[in-house]
Amino acid sequence: MSESKEMISSFYEKIVGTSPPPEPNEPKILCVGLICLDIVQVCKQFPAEDSDQRCVAHRWQRGGNASNNCTVLSEAGNSCEFLGTLSAEQHLNFLQDDMRKCKINFAHCPTVEGFGCPTSTVILSLNSGSRTILHYNPNLPELSLENFEKLNLEEYSWIHFEGRNVGTVLSMIKHVETYNNSLKLASKDIKNRLDPALPMPITISIELEKSDEQLLDLLPYVDVTFVGRTFAQFRGFDNMTETLRRISQEAKSGATIICAWGDRGAMARTPDGRIVQSPAFPPHKIIDSLGAGDTFTAAILFYLNRVKLQPPLSNRNDSDLARNTKGAEAQSDPNTELQLNEVKRKITQNYNIESLEVSLTEFIDCTVLQNAVTFACKVAGAKIGLTGYEGLGNVFKDLLKD
Ligand SMILES: Nc1ncnc2c1ncn2[C@@H]1O[C@H](COP(=O)(O)OP(=O)(O)O)[C@@H](O)[C@H]1O
Ligand SMILES: *[C@@H]1O[C@H](CO)[C@@H](O)[C@H](O)[C@H]1NC(C)=O
Ligand SMILES: *[C@@H]1O[C@H](CO)[C@@H](O)[C@H](O)[C@H]1NC(C)=O
Ligand SMILES: *[C@@H]1O[C@H](CO)[C@@H](O)[C@H](O)[C@H]1NC(C)=O
Ligand SMILES: *[C@@H]1O[C@H](CO)[C@@H](O)[C@H](O)[C@H]1NC(C)=O
Repeated sequence: MSESKEMISSFYEKIVGTSPPPEPNEPKILCVGLICLDIVQVCKQFPAEDSDQRCVAHRWQRGGNASNNCTVLSEAGNSCEFLGTLSAEQHLNFLQDDMRKCKINFAHCPTVEGFGCPTSTVILSLNSGSRTILHYNPNLPELSLENFEKLNLEEYSWIHFEGRNVGTVLSMIKHVETYNNSLKLASKDIKNRLDPALPMPITISIELEKSDEQLLDLLPYVDVTFVGRTFAQFRGFDNMTETLRRISQEAKSGATIICAWGDRGAMARTPDGRIVQSPAFPPHKIIDSLGAGDTFTAAILFYLNRVKLQPPLSNRNDSDLARNTKGAEAQSDPNTELQLNEVKRKITQNYNIESLEVSLTEFIDCTVLQNAVTFACKVAGAKIGLTGYEGLGNVFKDLLKD
């Protein structure tokens, strides 16, 4: 037991302590999706059509949802990698330099000639706090399965897919599942399965944001689903409760579903169907709401992945955990203790992907998810009081300290 105590305290040193660099062997979070150039104009107020207005500030930044998620993960001290197509044109250096600066690995990104770089022009209004985005993508080829298969999956603990290109993403998930199965850990040794020293089965998350119905096809195969307000409203859901209820009907059993809703905060559903909730934590003044959702998603991934990388569940001292994870309003309810029951596997066949009927995400219990959601709302709330993502590293540090 003293060994497990040591592991627990080193876990806390890692996240609470003085921002240690990620260990070279620490498994990475991989974000798969788009990178683009954001041209951001900050205006006093949103311009009227055909008007002429001076902006308060102007900047270029690296954008794209997957790329942004990496920025936040990296700020938090996580080892992370971006995977997506890069355009070989003139903005490439800007984007690559910025990823290097942010310690985001991009070693496996294919570079494509002859296509421009996707670009978003963003208008931020100081007056209303709104962000208006004009996106241009000159048909840059999407990432292929072959690109994905070049990865050494042992390097990753978690893969987050931006919900684009559903058909290919499904085949990538299938590839991950084959890998998972090759680990042969699911059936027997539950103690070793989450030992950080061993290659671990990969948790898969996606984001349902765009009003793209096709994304629903991914639901039966993913462990953690983020549902954005836009997607929910597009489907006709008025609130988070309704969204969780409806989306969980289409998800695999044992999936975790998380829904953020601007100033209403966020709500989530645990693998065993319990609901947790956090209010929003608005800053004194909203400065830059661009990327609030990205920040929220990344903060959740950061938190849950940390829990996943902890010592085996059976050795974990949950009372230590509850005490140390302050800022967590969740009461520890004896009924929500981790269930260590051997997980039964039942395979269903669809899209030619074997789907685990029971998802092996029992590390996400009520307390963990409550803490994750509260943590992420605090980080996202702090973010909209900051310009861009700078300073977010300190936000993470401060929140993990108290
Ligand atoms: N106006 C706001 N006030 C306070 N918190 C906010 C606000 N907008 C967003 N947030 C925080 O960011 C999280 C993500 O919000 P979301 O609506 O998904 O952002 P986005 O507009 O980027 O999609 C929310 O759960 C909340 O914690
Ligand atoms: C891989 O294994 C993890 C953990 O056991 C499980 O949650 C996930 O569903 C598996 N992923 C796939 C694609 O099978
Ligand atoms: C990022 O995701 C949002 C919501 O899904 C979408 O509206 C936007 O177009 C995406 N941005 C890029 C650059 O793909
Ligand atoms: C959420 O939306 C559903 C369906 O529109 C509605 O029946 C329910 O009353 C709403 N709940 C809350 C708390 O607003
Ligand atoms: C967990 O920690 C509590 C409080 O520090 C202690 O009383 C208990 O014995 C520990 N349990 C284990 C299994 O280490």
